[in-house]
Amino acid sequence: MDHFLYRNGILHAEDVPVPEIAAAVGTPFYCYSAATLTRHYRLFDEALAGMHHLVCFAMKSNSNLAVLRLLGNLGAGIDVVSVGEYLKARAAGIPGDRIVFSGVGKTRAEMRVALEGGIRQFNVESEPELAALNEVAISLGKVAPVTIRVNPNVDAKTHEKIATGRKEDKFGIPIGRAREVYAEAARLRGLKVIGIDVHIGSQLTDLAPFEQAYLKVAELTRQLRADGHDIQRLDLGGGLGIPYERSNTAPPLPLEYGEVVRRTVGDLGCEIEIEPGRLISGNAGIMVSEIIYLKSGEDRNFLILDSAMNDLVRPAMYGSHHDIVPVVEPTPGSEFAPFDIVGPVCESGDTFAKQRPMPPLAPGDLLAFRSAGAYGAVMSSEYNSRPLIPEVMVQGDQFAVIRARPTFDEMINRDTIPEWL
Ligand code: LLP
Repeated sequence: MDHFLYRNGILHAEDVPVPEIAAAVGTPFYCYSAATLTRHYRLFDEALAGMHHLVCFAMKSNSNLAVLRLLGNLGAGIDVVSVGEYLKARAAGIPGDRIVFSGVGKTRAEMRVALEGGIRQFNVESEPELAALNEVAISLGKVAPVTIRVNPNVDAKTHEKIATGRKEDKFGIPIGRAREVYAEAARLRGLKVIGIDVHIGSQLTDLAPFEQAYLKVAELTRQLRADGHDIQRLDLGGGLGIPYERSNTAPPLPLEYGEVVRRTVGDLGCEIEIEPGRLISGNAGIMVSEIIYLKSGEDRNFLILDSAMNDLVRPAMYGSHHDIVPVVEPTPGSEFAPFDIVGPVCESGDTFAKQRPMPPLAPGDLLAFRSAGAYGAVMSSEYNSRPLIPEVMVQGDQFAVIRARPTFDEMINRDTIPEWL
């Protein structure tokens, strides 16, 4: 459930009519619901109740400081994958001991910043990374807390580009070599190996791959303990999917996911961490756009919007579906007709939906893209020199701009022309 509903025929974000926000900030813009973010975080927190746990929001899905502050206030940890994310999390007030550092290619400079600033753990993905982190920690006179990410060779049965747990993927160390690598890590005095990390992919709509992976992690925990390692913490990654299409059956709920965690690793006495991104932020956000033109093509009709692939790249990049709904609710009995819904960018890939049935619409009408709170704003760019679009947060009957639209001058002045030109 989210908090973007029609009231008296007008789409509202919580208690605020969407047209009111559009009038204040202009289109296009992203809009997040504080109540939905809160609800989704709590669903995970409650799903793991009774187990010692920390829900670490994967901020790659939405890294706005206000979103991080809201989740941090609820007690969330944060999963970061770059020093930029680390510094943003700290700027939002998240203490270092609630930040886990994931990612396959952390640089020494990034490790140094996190070690000096304070970090809960590094999720290390390779032997060269173990060696590098060991050196950096020793040079700073510190001991780095580490989990090692294992690749369980489980097919998450998701989109090719976001499956991460098969043996051909670049992530983690092969689980079959884990005992060897843990033995090596235990010899490095700059590291303290405290646990195991796994993440098999994103937008999983079936619990079976989680179950398979977590059973392998449970077995590995027992083996490593028998080898003498002090395994206290299991980071089980993120990846639980969301319903992008209201007409489809919904993926499993966090509560059911929590049952899988309990059933597979619940008896090991480990502290459990999870790293959900999409399920917390995805359906907590919409992107609102205005129709510029209705255009009749040779054999189809187009809705041309003021937002484009640079603002929301997921349809162009993954062929993904977003429900697109008119901000003014269609009157009952309206006749729907198919449209290609496109942006103004100069390539045919700038298409949000093909042959999507839509009610009668006119230029100036507003449309809302649902499920746009995750991997939306964070993946946007200024392609075609289109300034990044603003982000707004709603809470009850109030709203605030949480990232302003840059001015054209700001955008232009980021570039410099060398003296010799
Ligand atoms: N932990 C790690 C180590 C990850 O790599 C990811 C996502 C997550 C947690 C969070 O996964 P989530 O709960 O959000 O599924 N841009 C793509 C998604 C990329 C996901 C990358 N890793 C998209 O728009 O679908």
